[in-house]
Amino acid sequence: MFKAVLFDLDGVITDTAEYHYQAWKKLGEEIGIVMDRTFNEQLKGVSREDSLTLLLTHGNRLSDFSDEQFAALAARKNEYYVEMIQKVSPKDVYSGILDLLKALRADQIKICLASASKNGPFLLERMALTDYFDGIADPASVGAGKPAPDIFIKAAEIVGVSPKECIGIEDAQAGIQAIKASGALAIGVGTQEQLGTDIPIVSSTKELTHAYLKNCWEIFRQ
Ligand code: G6P
Ligand code: MG
Repeated sequence: MFKAVLFDLDGVITDTAEYHYQAWKKLGEEIGIVMDRTFNEQLKGVSREDSLTLLLTHGNRLSDFSDEQFAALAARKNEYYVEMIQKVSPKDVYSGILDLLKALRADQIKICLASASKNGPFLLERMALTDYFDGIADPASVGAGKPAPDIFIKAAEIVGVSPKECIGIEDAQAGIQAIKASGALAIGVGTQEQLGTDIPIVSSTKELTHAYLKNCWEIFRQ
């Protein structure tokens, strides 16, 4: 049976994936780049800097900005985002997540955060979830961002479990690729269209019960 669960945050624990989208859209509008939700799927799970590179490439404007301007744009997006998340509270935790965290703890299964977001620790605090986590993988401490497996490998290491004995939960294409590359079992939150047909997928976090995870492990890891 699995020994640890590695959680993505934005779009898995709470709806902050929407705030990231709104903040990128606002920045894009200010510099004349239009983005929609379909394009946004490519940004999910991807670091702030890599997301900005993708956005500027999408708008054919990557070469228009110096390194300094690039950093200023990334900081501006983060300002918009940080403003949006100030009011996040325990009420914003997605249905089923708190019960899952409690059930995993009761069964002595380790829990670690594997988010690319530097705002992760702040958000866990805002949602009063920090104490449920045995560790938080710091995205600044890993070499390559998702879709590279580094953050999931780091998260597994923090809780002292081999990635092969972990489940990773993600809502992003890049995140699912990262989990698969780490050797952990991926569970997706979203649709087969977004995340593929070869992994277990739930359309709502309500379905993410301890029993469901055990069932996935038995079916996909035998
Ligand atoms: C998560 C989100 C991405 C975001 C990244 C960095 O992976 O899914 O949309 O770009 O974190 O977040 P940050 O808060 O550090 O800008
Ligand atoms: Mg996510």
